Amino acid sequence: MKQVSAFAPATIANFNVGYDVLGVSLNNIGDEVKLIINDTKVNKIIEIKNGETLPKAIEKNCCSVVIYEMQKAQNSFVGVDIIIVKGFASGSGLGSSSASSAAAAYAYNALIGKPYSTKELVHFAALGEKVACGTAHIDNVSPSLLGGIILATGTNIDKIIELPVIDNLYAVTLFPNIKINTSDSRKILKDNVSLDVYRQQIGFMGSFVSSLYENNLKRFSESLKDLLIEPMRSLLIPKFNEMRVAAEEVGALTFGISGSGPSVFAICEGEQRASNILKALEETYKDTGISIEKYCNKISENS
Ligand code: HSE
Repeated sequence: MKQVSAFAPATIANFNVGYDVLGVSLNNIGDEVKLIINDTKVNKIIEIKNGETLPKAIEKNCCSVVIYEMQKAQNSFVGVDIIIVKGFASGSGLGSSSASSAAAAYAYNALIGKPYSTKELVHFAALGEKVACGTAHIDNVSPSLLGGIILATGTNIDKIIELPVIDNLYAVTLFPNIKINTSDSRKILKDNVSLDVYRQQIGFMGSFVSSLYENNLKRFSESLKDLLIEPMRSLLIPKFNEMRVAAEEVGALTFGISGSGPSVFAICEGEQRASNILKALEETYKDTGISIEKYCNKISENS
């Protein structure tokens, strides 16, 4: 095989209850990475479509870093030309660097005859995340590679858990076009938590997981609450509370910050409610003067 392309989707990391360990895949938006063997031992980024400001230097770009790490692990340096097609905005909080890293890992694995399982690729994709955002958190790369809802507490494959998905759930996401870097958005977080908040928050995580296994939408909705991170990060997102009220009025089961923001998300049952939520969020945002991008995706089972 001389060339391979792979697509990897955008993701909602944290999902309110799982800071750095939980993520949800958004199927129909994402990035594509195309690799072409170039008959040298050197990787080269040929083009980044829709991402002209992203680095092309191979030691700085998440895709080439992922590929180089895979080459080192295999001790085999088949040089590739890399074409990256960005399908959504970087800096959105929808896992842009992760989608590129995941697509690069998946494509390179296919090019060299699939020595790794998809779960094993999480380790390599996380190294792309590290170069792009400063930390190798895996709550975006794991659902981007595996689809569905993933609880991942480490890169060892035993620590990557594919959770069941309740049928007919939709994710509505709105990206307000303001700049929030993941590294800055991590720095503002306090690292001490009161015992009372800790008690409530681990209760929410446990009941969320059980709601998926028991197909219990009421418990799903009641447990998807973020007492830890949202109070600090929501201050950076104009009209965050107004958007929550507007989304909940028309049927959102939960509302929160996607990853480190600035995108927000709402989850609901059924496509009609999703479309109503999208309209309500747009309406709330229209007098801010901030441009938005918006998406609506069905949450699907793991791929
Ligand atoms: N879990 C990470 C964070 C996701 O919240 O900082 C970054 O997209």
